[in-house]
Amino acid sequence: MKLCATIEDMRQTLAAARHRQPQGTVGFVPTMGNLHQGHLSLVERARAENGLVVVSLFVNPVQFDRPDDLATYPRTPEADLALLAQAGVDIVFMPPAEELYPPGFATTIEVGGVAAVMEGPSRPGHFNGVATVLCKLFNIVAPERAYFGQKDAQQVAVVRQMVRDLNMDVAITACPIWREGDGLAASSRNSRLSPQARAQAPVIHQALESLQRAVNQGVVDVALLEGQLSAALTAGGTEKVEYATLVDPTTFTPLAGQRLQPGRPALALVAAWFGGVRLIDNKMLEVP
Ligand code: PAJ
Repeated sequence: MKLCATIEDMRQTLAAARHRQPQGTVGFVPTMGNLHQGHLSLVERARAENGLVVVSLFVNPVQFDRPDDLATYPRTPEADLALLAQAGVDIVFMPPAEELYPPGFATTIEVGGVAAVMEGPSRPGHFNGVATVLCKLFNIVAPERAYFGQKDAQQVAVVRQMVRDLNMDVAITACPIWREGDGLAASSRNSRLSPQARAQAPVIHQALESLQRAVNQGVVDVALLEGQLSAALTAGGTEKVEYATLVDPTTFTPLAGQRLQPGRPALALVAAWFGGVRLIDNKMLEVP
């Protein structure tokens, strides 16, 4: 496994690797490190589908809306590199922040549409920061395929919107949410949970699962379902439900005031706080 810290080294390494394997596609998994099984499930998928696998480890400062969140974001590069070597990754791109954002850097990709709702207003500037760094990384790595987790469902939709609008030549694959045994979606933020908050947090998944059961029993009124979701989270010990909302899975438009219909899946999205940690999760709801 080759480790690259500069854009120039990355480009040369990729060019040489592509030369050795002219038929092989490049599969790319962008991450912010502190890797867990969720990230590794993306890497495994990329490994299975491509000749070359590239992973980036970069805590992208411009996508953080709260300075304390950036300052306390867990960084574990040695453990990350060991996991990636074990997973059979070919090239890791781990640049210092100045390499991607040198003095004078002045361009931002602003994604509209799906980026303007839900997480968008909740975290000002977040999706612009994500889109900007991904545009740069796609330009540097030039992958045929890039892999993202459905855990960050709106991020996937924002990336698809950018790729479509700007005619980027990369196929986006969304991979299923990887969960711990008790249902909690794996996240770098989970390591910040106190034992009590960690014990409570699986309620997010339980609340989403019971929502599908309610739909199966004929509850299709969106306001009722959202009320049930919020109530289950509150009963489970969250100190704040930031949102518990059903949206159209393509546009992310809230379905408030509507009724679910067969053949039109709805995406239930949750952002809730446990012991000072903001967690997100989601589930696609199908009307039988
Ligand atoms: P990060 O939070 O490190 O996540 C990297 C990728 O792993 C994302 O596509 C995310 O959706 C996926 N992922 C995280 N937890 C997962 C889980 N439990 N199951 C499946 N996939 C999971 O998302 C980012 O980094 C950044 O915004 C990035 C795209 C790298 C841009 O900076």
